[in-house]
Amino acid sequence: MNIRLVKGTWDSIECDALMIPLFEDDKDQEEFTSTLDQKLDGLLSELKSTKEWKAKLGRISVIHRPDQLAAGRLILVGAGKRKDDNTQSVRSLMMQAVGQVKGYNFKRLAVYGIGQADSDLSFQAAVEGAVIATYEGDDYKTTDRALNFIEEILFVVDKETAGVEEAIKRGEILGEATNLARRLINEPGNRVNPSSLAQTATELADKYSLEIEVLGEPEMEKREMGAVLAVARGSDEPARFIVLRHRGAPESDAKPIVLVGKGVTFDSGGLSLKSPQSMERMKSDKAGACVVLAAMQAIAQLQIKRNIVGLIPAVENLPSGRALRPGDVVRSMSGTTIEVLNTDAEGRLILADALCYGRQLEPEYMVDVATLTGACVIALGDFRAGLFSNNEEICQKLLQASERSGEKFWRLPLDDEYRKEIESSIADIKNVGGRWGGASIAAKFLEEFVEDLPWCHLDIAGVALSKENQGFKTPTGFGVRTLVEMVSS
Ligand code: BES
Ligand code: ZN
Ligand code: ZN
Repeated sequence: MNIRLVKGTWDSIECDALMIPLFEDDKDQEEFTSTLDQKLDGLLSELKSTKEWKAKLGRISVIHRPDQLAAGRLILVGAGKRKDDNTQSVRSLMMQAVGQVKGYNFKRLAVYGIGQADSDLSFQAAVEGAVIATYEGDDYKTTDRALNFIEEILFVVDKETAGVEEAIKRGEILGEATNLARRLINEPGNRVNPSSLAQTATELADKYSLEIEVLGEPEMEKREMGAVLAVARGSDEPARFIVLRHRGAPESDAKPIVLVGKGVTFDSGGLSLKSPQSMERMKSDKAGACVVLAAMQAIAQLQIKRNIVGLIPAVENLPSGRALRPGDVVRSMSGTTIEVLNTDAEGRLILADALCYGRQLEPEYMVDVATLTGACVIALGDFRAGLFSNNEEICQKLLQASERSGEKFWRLPLDDEYRKEIESSIADIKNVGGRWGGASIAAKFLEEFVEDLPWCHLDIAGVALSKENQGFKTPTGFGVRTLVEMVSS
């Protein structure tokens, strides 16, 4: 799909369909809507009076063969109330509108009226929304797949302003990275395992000139990554530890930024086996890893002038005669010993070694992304991700990035009281505490391996999959855009 900016007039743009967002109650738009109404011989007023047209966010109305326009169809798109207008609503209206018409045989789509009041970020968000709408998630259907006929989207503007072209390019890169994460997360456990995830990372690295190193189990043993190896033991699939490097500032001696993603390609719970129902969505327990991979792709494409390292511990968590048992004590890379009382709390184990590895790179800060706890899902549902941080400045940086990305977070506590929950009588710490406050207890466990390095932990367990698409759970790619915005700032 080709997306570009064109300077021109909305009524003379030649395309299969022209989309125009209209507000419910907008005084500023009155002049434009009355011109539009005239060009349509009063059809807009008529549609309003019969209540066929309502400007509810994302709702569309298709007008066939509008005579006085060069477009084959005019698509009115509801933009909601003017007072609710922000980049998030632009992203959402484009996502919904393109989602509804992508199956119509329109090859060339034009859009007019984006960013009238506002700036580059609206265009970026509009493009992100359009690109995100083209991925359906029905990858393995052999019949009735949702099609996308759109080959080209033109953003029509009256006058060109500096920065818009760049914003459109950025939106495309971020939208595509989001879809890459979604496609990977959607892959079932029989299609993606730690080795194939590493293979995918290698292909991405080749394509986008990232440096890559993939550690196999012997190398991980040499580095004493006892926690990752312990989780992987129950599966016939060996663990991999993926290190991706973007050298955007090769000459500078600035410290790198480290991004860590939980890569459990399938989480059965291990011997602390999950129920069949909670196991259903566990192919998505690699979402953190996929988000980091996709963010690294976007970072390379945007040529961000920073040194950024992506770390992915990849394992499959299965029960077997070799599996980790409840009560086992493992020695992590940092030397901290861990009593594993629940083999289903495996994410924090593999992250322990990854965070320790990251710390040794002496970064400016680290961010980890993980589908870590059911407790976070209970707390925040699938609307917001949990955010934990030991550093005000980095936490604010993340929240500012989230304003741009439209991905919402909610900061949860990391008080010392939660640390008591993971005290062990046999080892340095144990991997689970009591039932209550589980998201903070897990975060506290991770903090042990970060020590005082500035760090954010993003618990995306609730938001990695969403309810869109007729109640089916489809991956969202949540986190990709926030990570990229954060390292860009
Ligand atoms: N992968 C799960 C967390 C999860 C739950 C992700 C629901 C997405 C949706 C994680 O490995 C896990 O099982 N955590 C346990 C920890 C518990 C044993 C302390 C949990 O949250 O139940
Ligand atoms: Zn688990
Ligand atoms: Zn898990």
